[in-house]
Amino acid sequence: MRDPTSFLRQEYDDLVRQELDWKLRVLGGPSLPWCVVDGKKVLMFCSNNYLGLSNHPKLKAAAKEAVDTHGAGSGSVRPIAGTMDLHMELERRLARFKGAEASLVYQTGFAANAGLIPQLAGKGDVIVSDELNHGSIIDGVRLSLAERRVYKHADAEDLGRVLDEAEKASPAFRRVLVITDGVFSMDGDVAPLDKIAALCSQHGAMVYVDDAHGEGVLGDGGRGIVSHFKLTRDKVQVEMGTFSKAFGVVGGHVSGSRDLVNFAYNKSRTWTLSGSHPPAVVAACIAAVDVLEREPQHVEKLWENTRYFKKAMTDLGFDIGKSTTPITPVMVGESGRAKRLSARLYEIGVLALPIVYPMVAQGKARIRTIMNAALTREDLDFAIGAFETAGKELSIIPGGN
Ligand SMILES: Cc1ncc(COP(=O)(O)O)c(C=O)c1O
Repeated sequence: MRDPTSFLRQEYDDLVRQELDWKLRVLGGPSLPWCVVDGKKVLMFCSNNYLGLSNHPKLKAAAKEAVDTHGAGSGSVRPIAGTMDLHMELERRLARFKGAEASLVYQTGFAANAGLIPQLAGKGDVIVSDELNHGSIIDGVRLSLAERRVYKHADAEDLGRVLDEAEKASPAFRRVLVITDGVFSMDGDVAPLDKIAALCSQHGAMVYVDDAHGEGVLGDGGRGIVSHFKLTRDKVQVEMGTFSKAFGVVGGHVSGSRDLVNFAYNKSRTWTLSGSHPPAVVAACIAAVDVLEREPQHVEKLWENTRYFKKAMTDLGFDIGKSTTPITPVMVGESGRAKRLSARLYEIGVLALPIVYPMVAQGKARIRTIMNAALTREDLDFAIGAFETAGKELSIIPGGN
């Protein structure tokens, strides 16, 4: 007889044996620079809450007020009875912030990629994707009936080669969709979006950028990668993002033309068939957009902290890869060593997690640090001191025994 569930235990045990299982760390309170993780007070050095907005008083107040005025839940999916005035206001505010004709909010960034990508390209089309694109893009592409082609990471020349190749297809592809992360989440490098957009213009291809890690970070006042490269909306037709990182809340979104948004909300199954955000979430997102518009100091502080940390780590002899953003990988090489470094940092009082194979290639294990605007100079010096101590002990930098 077939045992219908034995694979659950077996596959989990395999993961544990290979040390590939996720060990959840539990925050006993808010995600602040100093927080309690698994009962120990540590400096948070790996959260996506870049600007510290998840605890901003305006966001918390907006969320509380929305519960009183609109209730705890929305009651439905957006197209039936789950669109409140708050949802519409958020989309108007976001479009204004992004300088786009229109924006559409999804439940998460993952839902935006998984719902929209398969609608933008289907049978007879081709999707061209950076080899290091985020998993939610990969899953969105898998849901599409389009052909898939991959270009070398952040390599516009290779993208040009792939697009030229695609032009030779017979019958000719109906649509060509090029997708890239804006800021790559494992390395902190920035996609050459200006070059990608220029190539796509020549080939009549649509550009889709996932700016999850660029929003609140790059561009004028944190408006993101399209603003960073000063590109126009006719060159980058789909700017996708998330409220779960620098905005400090949760929720995905796309910005572009009114045509794009009309198409997206009628066609994305993740949007039409899944409940909409509760009022507290929407109100907090509106407040986050408001804070970004009115309080530029958070983005400025994020960059000041980033420069300080990167310089100190380089001076100590750490290899911090090719990052040009607040995501700073501390390259270690071998997976076991990255895990030991992370464990030692936690002992000293810094939470920074290891990223190991298969999340990154063999031999490319690292500690991924993510800078935060709410960290003080004292906090940064504490973290740098912890890296110095642990780095020397593990002979990652010179000066140990
Ligand atoms: C590049 C990228 N795209 C999309 C997502 C998904 O965003 P969300 O957390 O809103 O689902 C993430 C989050 O990890 C991401 O890093």
